[in-house]
Amino acid sequence: MPSKAVKSHAGETPDMSEHSRQLLKAQEEERRRISRELHDETGQALMVLRFHLEMLAADNGSAEHKGKIEESLELLDRTIEGLRRTIARLSPRVLEELGLVSAIRRQVEIVTRHMEIRAALDVPEDLRWLDHDLEVAIYRSIQEALHNIAKHSRAESFSVRLRTTDSRLSLQIADDGVGFSPRAAQLRGFGLTGMRERAAALGGSMKVRSKPDQGTRIQISFPLNGRKHRAGNGSLERTAAA
Ligand SMILES: Nc1ncnc2c1ncn2[C@@H]1O[C@H](COP(=O)(O)OP(=O)(O)OP(=O)(O)O)[C@@H](O)[C@H]1O
Ligand SMILES: [Mg+2]
Repeated sequence: MPSKAVKSHAGETPDMSEHSRQLLKAQEEERRRISRELHDETGQALMVLRFHLEMLAADNGSAEHKGKIEESLELLDRTIEGLRRTIARLSPRVLEELGLVSAIRRQVEIVTRHMEIRAALDVPEDLRWLDHDLEVAIYRSIQEALHNIAKHSRAESFSVRLRTTDSRLSLQIADDGVGFSPRAAQLRGFGLTGMRERAAALGGSMKVRSKPDQGTRIQISFPLNGRKHRAGNGSLERTAAA
């Protein structure tokens, strides 16, 4: 979780932004390590347990025994599913596996599947040319903004829009929910602060526009200089997700 102690401000020194960048990198590495351990150790152990339970279920036994084993298998399956979700949330490995655009699409789908909310997604078809730090910052920012929409907004719809020019990338996440007073919100959680820190660490900035009962719009802008690792055309694909 981002630390409030390293809050970044517009007039921050380069050292401060380098400090934030190192801190965020260390956090990502830690998350990656935890996610790997959960996958390789806990996940593997649960799969072995599942295998043993299936063997027991195939053996002759009383109806009561079989019932208990079935129940255990169901509980185990739910636990494995929960673990998979936790691993996916923890690790931006999903970025390596799916690429940023599909990873964003998946996050949007998770929200629309679990809530009565419509979503509009407007992102370039291919962003594989972005450098990894920027990909992680975008992925984590959208993740937090969508968590906030799910947790606080009571919105009927939201949109995620990502645009690139030669020199900048802009990300906008907007909803038509209950809104809030950004000044008061500063004192509450870590999410918005973390998003601002991520943007500042990469030389970017974030604006939040929200008023009670008037929805929320978050705009983040990142400079692209030196943040492309492959040539890309940034062409846009419009998708109505749900
Ligand atoms: N989309 C939104 N709609 C309505 N209120 C919001 C929205 N996003 C943020 N808020 C308000 O701003 C506050 C601060 O958000 P922030 O993400 O920083 O913290 P949090 O979500 O409360 O906690 P955390 O992110 O640390 O788990 C929230 O508590 C909520 O009141
Ligand atoms: Mg939050």
